[in-house]
Amino acid sequence: MPSFRGDMKKVIHIVGARPNFMKVAPIHRAISARTSLRQLVIHTGQHYDAKMSDVFFADLGLPPPEIHLGIGSGSHAEQTAKMMVEMEKVFLQEKPDLVSVVGDVNSTIAAALVTSKLAIPLSHVEAGLRSFERHQPEEINRVVTDRLSDLLLTPSRDADANLLKEGIDPKHIHLVGNVMIDSLLSSKEKADQLPTLKTLGLTPKGYVVATLHRPSNVDNPKLLAGLLGVLMDVAKELPVVFPVHPRTRKMIAEQGLGPKLEQTPGLKLVDPMGYLEFLSVTSQAKLVMTDSGGLQEETTALNVPCLTMREQTERPITVEVGSNEVVGTDPARIREAANRVLSGDFKKGRVPELWDGRTGERIADLYARFLGVETKRAFG
Ligand code: UD1
Repeated sequence: MPSFRGDMKKVIHIVGARPNFMKVAPIHRAISARTSLRQLVIHTGQHYDAKMSDVFFADLGLPPPEIHLGIGSGSHAEQTAKMMVEMEKVFLQEKPDLVSVVGDVNSTIAAALVTSKLAIPLSHVEAGLRSFERHQPEEINRVVTDRLSDLLLTPSRDADANLLKEGIDPKHIHLVGNVMIDSLLSSKEKADQLPTLKTLGLTPKGYVVATLHRPSNVDNPKLLAGLLGVLMDVAKELPVVFPVHPRTRKMIAEQGLGPKLEQTPGLKLVDPMGYLEFLSVTSQAKLVMTDSGGLQEETTALNVPCLTMREQTERPITVEVGSNEVVGTDPARIREAANRVLSGDFKKGRVPELWDGRTGERIADLYARFLGVETKRAFG
């Protein structure tokens, strides 16, 4: 571990679940390059399978976490509480000057609660997103984390508007852009060189990518069967690559749906993919069908048509500006939308404002200013 002067200001980054790593990597890199701030990465262990975690550090060039809490899976209360207990010990010992959290997972809210109760400044990257669906755990995580944050860093103007409507003081809100797109843009060239398509027997624009993992979709047997039925139908038209999330794999097994899926020609069930491998398939897909939040943004940045199999999106800019359509969870409606896109009729998106690959730099400069530290290179 590098040695640091005792008087250096310290930022702690919290990561835990798969969608966190690609958000923290560009911030970490920019802080190292532009400031004299000391940084520590704490991994809560919310995701622990190598394919859900380790591979992302390697793919994104993010150094391994200095501290690993090893919390693992559990009920919401159990998982969040265990994280809080362990984080409090670390924060008391490390005395950070700022804690930086990203996204909306349980690791995010756990860190937000501990940080604010210890009166340590808290920054939330990806603040202000709202699905307005309180039954989703992520929505609760977003609302509470934003309420407790001192710096609210937003990816788009709709997020600023949500925060203002909730009475957040505008001086705490900073529109910085979408940090996940920094990772996408800096990794695209490397991803393009991978032989993934060849290995899977696919041709550019000749296949569909599907992902499903939202509890509201996959923990409901009837809904899950309906959505998988759509994927089986689409696979009759064009090959469908379906990297299966552990939660979804478990539900497919419990419902005895595995054999039917595996016997469907054209439907390729694969393990969760690493960051670069997955980018190499999404960027060349004819269509992406998903219930993920991040993938709605990535397809918008790549201008690949995306059908979001949910009733709402907390990322409306991907619909208003980007290539995303929210199609709900009714199989007939999704099938109709997929057929339309496959026959060439889809909306062409644009890339939203400040999704330019420099969000990490803006965040590093903001943290330096907030902590009264000079930046090595001013943002230009
Ligand atoms: C979590 C996030 C969700 C995010 C998703 C990305 C919350 C509330 N949810 O959902 O917002 O979109 O991550 O993947 O934080 N499991 C494994 N291996 C792992 C991790 C999990 O097998 O490495 C299995 C376990 O059976 C676990 C289940 O997946 O119980 C769910 O994991 P959990 O972290 O609770 O939620 P996700 O569904 O992954």
